[in-house]
Amino acid sequence: MINIKELEHIKIKELENQYPFILSFFENNKLDVEEYEEYTLEEYLSHFTAEEIDEWAIDIEKIKSDLESYINQMIEFLGLEEDTVDSITIIAGNNKYGDKENFEELTINKSEIVAIVGPTGSGKSRLLADIEWAANKDTPTERTILVNGETPDKSLRFSTSNKLVAQLSQNMNFVMDLTVREFLELHARSRMVDNEEEVIEKIIAAANELAGEKFNLDTQVTGLSGGQSRALMIADTAILSTSPIVLIDEIENAGIDRKRALNLLVSKEKIVLMATHDPTLTLMADKRIVIKNGGIHKLIKTDAEEKGILKELEKMDDIISNMRANLRKGEVLNSQV
Ligand SMILES: Nc1ncnc2c1ncn2[C@@H]1O[C@H](COP(=O)(O)OP(=O)(O)OP(=O)(O)O)[C@@H](O)[C@H]1O
Ligand SMILES: [Mg+2]
Repeated sequence: MINIKELEHIKIKELENQYPFILSFFENNKLDVEEYEEYTLEEYLSHFTAEEIDEWAIDIEKIKSDLESYINQMIEFLGLEEDTVDSITIIAGNNKYGDKENFEELTINKSEIVAIVGPTGSGKSRLLADIEWAANKDTPTERTILVNGETPDKSLRFSTSNKLVAQLSQNMNFVMDLTVREFLELHARSRMVDNEEEVIEKIIAAANELAGEKFNLDTQVTGLSGGQSRALMIADTAILSTSPIVLIDEIENAGIDRKRALNLLVSKEKIVLMATHDPTLTLMADKRIVIKNGGIHKLIKTDAEEKGILKELEKMDDIISNMRANLRKGEVLNSQV
């Protein structure tokens, strides 16, 4: 909920940018803001002379409270509420054998990166799916997911354009026949960005930094390789998505620069959960969930010693990436390098 006090020091011009629907409020209330674009809301509301206030029966306090309810109603109506997730909580369900999981509840806060590790088939993707679905004892694990300590609103759970969660799933196939440009335009429009062209250029540049062979805006999405489409989706999610929760299912397997991909996706304000088999990515996280037989088995914080080991791992990764790059180029490795 927005409080009018938070808006008083914002310029009219910026308010219009952020809440374009505010213009009809001004119109309906016969408030002529055209020449006051550079004024803050407070300055604008206090510029009326005593005569004007008298003559037009202006009630400043009423305007403020009406404006506050109007903005909040519009935000709710348009589904624009964003970044309101401060934490998610996982409440234990059962593992594949029907035994209760080895923890009671786990809360993950904004700005945390959590890795999910465990053998193949152990239930990592299942945990991500439970979060994506905001499970309420209605999935095979019978887990419950809370958002900000509460059962999330049904509209968030079942909405098709689920704004709460940005998900990069393990298997991704483009089914529609669009060019990369058309695909990004569709997405940019649905996110209502105003500098569409700039954003699209940014996404393609970021995607090409992650992928090997470059592609361009006129490439058909169905013609992208596995690694290229993954790179495109990662760049798209990182740059366009405003979802406060980012779920990543294995970024390592597509031959893309996984460390760069993670850094692109991670942002201070978000909650990031990432299923991975990669030790470097695991240690880059603040903590990790260990899954066994479909249940959360252990929670481990990445300590200083492991962060030290991460540095060593990164050096080894560099050596391996160089070798990979050379092999891809068709070179023959020798033991001197
Ligand atoms: N607690 C559970 N109860 C019942 N079924 C479960 C449970 N956890 C996972 N499963 C099921 O087990 C199967 C394998 O799980 P999942 O796909 O999540 O494995 P994974 O760890 O992601 O494996 P990979 O590393 O190969 O991607 C899925 O069908 C999933 O729905
Ligand atoms: Mg999986």
